[in-house]
Amino acid sequence: PFTACTFLLLFFAALVSSTKLESMTIQHVLVPIVMEAEAKPFVDHLGLELVEGFFPPHTPFLAYQGEHHNCKVTVVTMGKDTVYGTGMDNVGTTSAALGTFLALSRSEADGNPAQLVMNAGTCGGFQRQGGGIGDVYLTTGVAHHDRRIPIPGFDVYGIGKLETLNPTTMAKTLGYKTGICTTGNSLDWVEKDDEFMKDNNASCKDMEAASIAWIAKMHDVPYLGVKVVTDIVDGPHPTQDEFLENLHSAAKSLQDALPKVLEYVTDKTGQSD
Ligand code: ADE
Repeated sequence: PFTACTFLLLFFAALVSSTKLESMTIQHVLVPIVMEAEAKPFVDHLGLELVEGFFPPHTPFLAYQGEHHNCKVTVVTMGKDTVYGTGMDNVGTTSAALGTFLALSRSEADGNPAQLVMNAGTCGGFQRQGGGIGDVYLTTGVAHHDRRIPIPGFDVYGIGKLETLNPTTMAKTLGYKTGICTTGNSLDWVEKDDEFMKDNNASCKDMEAASIAWIAKMHDVPYLGVKVVTDIVDGPHPTQDEFLENLHSAAKSLQDALPKVLEYVTDKTGQSD
């Protein structure tokens, strides 16, 4: 029977779940970073070690673990393609979702579940949103810009908009920008993508955030995106040229930003929103 006590318990359970980050000590952060080149400077900087056998056989994903500020850090990269025989990084939503799902499941099975998914990587920025090359964004939400399903209900499902952890205070403290990140499986874009990016007020364009946030939401783990701009989507230069030109400086910038964000979220005084 529903007693006053049950209501009280439910009330406090709701309170705890809505204030997670402020009230709890984060002991384990999962950091999915799709490309090796994006992850390497950060992995080296923290002295994280490759964990053999972390993922099931036949999967290309790699996990690096260590401690930072008394917090366990697991960086996951999506590894290199062996299926198509290209040897390139497994970019895009399919591998990002699967790698993140397996890493979260493994962290649960190990009895030390990750309490925050901090997805780091590069993104396209928008001059119409005041973005510039090298800007660091903490994301406020995610959506897809290439899932067009013009059937009532499925249209909303396709866009897959999720509000994520509110990083406003953290961004102000650390001097970073905030904005919505929209995701698609192409580095370039077509007019329809741009319509969806505008409708969703995108400040960042990437190839995995919305799928990783979907997996995090499934596990009831908060998602935070940390994205560095390598190219300007609505600028004059071809995306691929700008991206390749700026990839390494962006990875360095991630190496600088990620420990600061990590220290902020693991700070026991809990200044996050
Ligand atoms: N990663 C870096 N720049 C990007 C862009 N313009 N689109 C998608 N992913 C990106």
